[in-house]
Amino acid sequence: MFGDVVRDALAVATGVGRAPLAGGRLPRPVIEIVERDDGLVSAVMAEGYLAEPDRWPAHDLRALDRVRGRVLDIGTGAGRIALALQSRGVPVTGLDISPGAIEVCRVRGVRDLVHATVDQHAGAGHRYDTFLLLGNNLGLLEGRERAPAFLSALARMAGPGARVIAQGTDPYGTTDPIQVAYHKDNRGRGRLGGQLRLRLRYRELATDWFDYLVCSPEELAQLVAGSGWRVADIDNTDAPYYLATLTAIG
Ligand SMILES: C[S@@+](CC[C@H](N)C(=O)[O-])C[C@H]1O[C@@H](n2cnc3c(N)ncnc32)[C@H](O)[C@@H]1O
Repeated sequence: MFGDVVRDALAVATGVGRAPLAGGRLPRPVIEIVERDDGLVSAVMAEGYLAEPDRWPAHDLRALDRVRGRVLDIGTGAGRIALALQSRGVPVTGLDISPGAIEVCRVRGVRDLVHATVDQHAGAGHRYDTFLLLGNNLGLLEGRERAPAFLSALARMAGPGARVIAQGTDPYGTTDPIQVAYHKDNRGRGRLGGQLRLRLRYRELATDWFDYLVCSPEELAQLVAGSGWRVADIDNTDAPYYLATLTAIG
């Protein structure tokens, strides 16, 4: 599904390939629909997944400045981060579970790609110095149940002194009654307040429901405790967005 989104966004951006057309003629913007389990619906303009660095939010640029050594870009999407690193001469591998996203990355010129989960890739014997979780991909920690296994998979791939650079969003500044009620309901069910239950929709397609974590830096610190990583820094210059840097213990 995500592969269709970025493939169509690429076709609209380049004029090459099948793009969704208005009246069979004019390219339409590609919009990914995010549906939450309380019925809340939001929309993401897919062109952002292809954006060049001059259109990125400032925290993405600061994330790249923190990169060192061999990089694994986790949930690489359409490869915007991997391409920027490649152009700086940084050795980077893009990893994604979406075969369509991997294909779009290949077409756009990302040289080193892996179609796998982090758990699968952790068994392949590769080592990295930096793990990137950008574009809100701190969400891939999902919640209390999944986070330990996810972080442990990264620890198995970590070279000496490795770091994780993850972009998250602190959800708790809001006074929107829909969001406040969702956080409360989640906690009542033993979940983290911002443990979103989502599915993505595009045209006639829909993913299965999955958990995606939006958590505060304090909640992140609790999730990371005992994982082999520690929170070394939180850059919240662009609050509520933040960049968390985790470093390997020992
Ligand atoms: C919100 S997009 C972010 C893309 C990219 N990081 C960016 O900033 O443009 C999320 C990406 O993560 C991928 N993804 C979702 N779950 C994943 C998982 N468990 N392991 C690896 N990639 C995953 C999706 O296929 C999608 O490409």
